[in-house]
Amino acid sequence: MRKPMVAGNWKMNKTVAEGVKLMEELIPMINGISSVDRVVCPPFTALYCVSETLKGSEIGCGAQDLFWEEKGAYTGEVAPNMVAELGQYVIIGHSERRTYFGETNETVNKKTLAALKHGLTPIVCVGETLEENQGGKTEAVVSGQILEGLKGLSAEEAAKIIVAYEPVWAIGTGLAATGPDANKVIADYIRKPYASMYGEEAAQAIRVLYGGSVKGSNAAEFFGQPDIDGALVGGASLKAPDFTEIVKAAAA
Ligand code: 13P
Repeated sequence: MRKPMVAGNWKMNKTVAEGVKLMEELIPMINGISSVDRVVCPPFTALYCVSETLKGSEIGCGAQDLFWEEKGAYTGEVAPNMVAELGQYVIIGHSERRTYFGETNETVNKKTLAALKHGLTPIVCVGETLEENQGGKTEAVVSGQILEGLKGLSAEEAAKIIVAYEPVWAIGTGLAATGPDANKVIADYIRKPYASMYGEEAAQAIRVLYGGSVKGSNAAEFFGQPDIDGALVGGASLKAPDFTEIVKAAAA
């Protein structure tokens, strides 16, 4: 049995004050919904304050990125142990990082290994662009992101990761994938290549989230799919009632 998870990726939104205010509203709304793992991923600047507001709650906290080196002269970067001080999770290889900041399957792989080494749970993002989707390349792209992104992980490490399938064309567009289409990609292009490396049983045990225009009104369509274990939510994670609606759908 895979426990459902709903994680909020705040992206580049919320100052410290705004983030704390959101948490004060959100914590009482979702803290009792224990059948779902609930996580928020604020920007680095709000991570400390948000993690402080979460103390004593059931809600987890994560960063949106990290760097793979331990420390040193890397201006602007944040090391894995700095994140591990404040949270339990880290989003890795989000399509916005791949598109705007030159991340590749190779950097995703280094970051995933570094996160695991420091006891963080990586939420590894994969997904095809519209062009790749229309060109019939979804399988090659997504399975390649899995095979290369997870290269060199031990079976024990690979069992700890969470994957998020986020078709790039569905992110922030209001154009979500359909539940069955997302489920097919997850079953065939994520769990299958994962199984080729770590075995079928392990592939059935990892959690895979869907992300891309998830909201209260469509969340149930995804959560009803056999291979979808929750959601990575962008826009709808910025308002407490919207995020709560999604968490409740995952609990239903
Ligand atoms: P939206 O929910 O805003 O489409 O963003 C999805 C996403 O990128 C989460 O990481």
